[in-house]
Amino acid sequence: MSTPRERYDALRALGLKLDLTRGQPGDDNFDLSNAMLTIVDDKTLVTPSGVALRNYPGGVAGLKEARELFAPMLGVAPDEIIVGNNASLELEGKALMWAMLRGLPKSPAPWCKGEVKFIVTVPGYDRHFLMLEKLGIGQIPVAMKADGPDIAAIEKLVAGDASIKGLLYVPTHSNPTGDTTSQAVADRLGAMKTAAPDFTIFADDAYAVHHLDDTPPPHPDLLGACKKAGNPTRVILFGSTSKITFAGAGMSFLGGSKETIAWLAGLMGTQMITPNKIEQYRHVLFLGRYPGGIAGIMKAHAKLLAPKFNAVDEILTRELGGKNLATWTKPKGGYFVSLDTAKPVASKVVQLAKEAGVALTPAGATYPFGKDPNDRNIRLSPTRPPVDQVRKAMEVVAVCVQLASE
Ligand SMILES: Cc1ncc(COP(=O)(O)O)c(C=O)c1O
Repeated sequence: MSTPRERYDALRALGLKLDLTRGQPGDDNFDLSNAMLTIVDDKTLVTPSGVALRNYPGGVAGLKEARELFAPMLGVAPDEIIVGNNASLELEGKALMWAMLRGLPKSPAPWCKGEVKFIVTVPGYDRHFLMLEKLGIGQIPVAMKADGPDIAAIEKLVAGDASIKGLLYVPTHSNPTGDTTSQAVADRLGAMKTAAPDFTIFADDAYAVHHLDDTPPPHPDLLGACKKAGNPTRVILFGSTSKITFAGAGMSFLGGSKETIAWLAGLMGTQMITPNKIEQYRHVLFLGRYPGGIAGIMKAHAKLLAPKFNAVDEILTRELGGKNLATWTKPKGGYFVSLDTAKPVASKVVQLAKEAGVALTPAGATYPFGKDPNDRNIRLSPTRPPVDQVRKAMEVVAVCVQLASE
């Protein structure tokens, strides 16, 4: 039996160059949508609802056909969604910036007039933390649990502090844990008493339809929960086609009550006459004709992605099972696996892996300011490399966990 040190040295000698840093689709995922590149031509310049694709008119909320196609994905009605350009992060940033400068529908004053804090879930998404940090918004971490954010902790926090203006988190197949918010937690989020009258849940539903198997968890109806409790403006939902068609080259969504949509469309309409309607129509035609529609293409994605997630679990189980050195998630969707080391050695593992030619998301990235107080969490992103590379990378990760834990 080789020691972890001997195995590590042997793996390092292979001169590997593997990258598992970011959650990107594989080229085989992109290939599923190649037909979209040429689907709009000079015979499809006007939509069935009469909007000319090449000109300005059409409105800031996007094509009617696109709103109808994507509203069900966020669980909202077609008049409760804005379809924007290529990045949901941009819509999140815009909504946050406008809230800072002008407030949201129920705000007594623009947020920037006082102290502003947000609750964030940990482990969580590094770009969320960075966006809040750059906007000068304080961050209060709460745990992400199997049924969603730690609702009891949130209820306590928001009841007594009016400077807590929101919650920013991923409700479905969360980045990086893969957890999905239950309807019971969604109902409590919608109904809880908040000291701030304009407390707003920024629900980044980036993985709303990104299931890996045929038994997905029910999609939480956050807007319905907020409406039912008489707080229809409490939630803003976000999503995009970045992991449905082309990453960073598709369209984004912002969902909410009609009042929220009117408020934000009014502000965003000062910055833009109309989003890219040609791109929107390309998606409408392509996904509208795809066998099974959006669910159909997501099944095709899952067929390509599930073997990679299975490989992660198989190799980690083989190498670390029963050793009490680490635990990891087995997500039913989304783009990540979250690994926790038993000892505070996450940074050491990431460093050792790097020296063996395996690039991982930096340790700490799943916490605000890049600092994991326990130095235990590592986000694994197995979606882009081919499955044989995922297997090799997981072997390296597992051996590094063993070596770092000695
Ligand atoms: C939770 C979450 N939100 C947003 C994004 C980026 O989405 P977009 O390309 O629409 O900006 C990602 C990408 O990894 C993500 O994981």
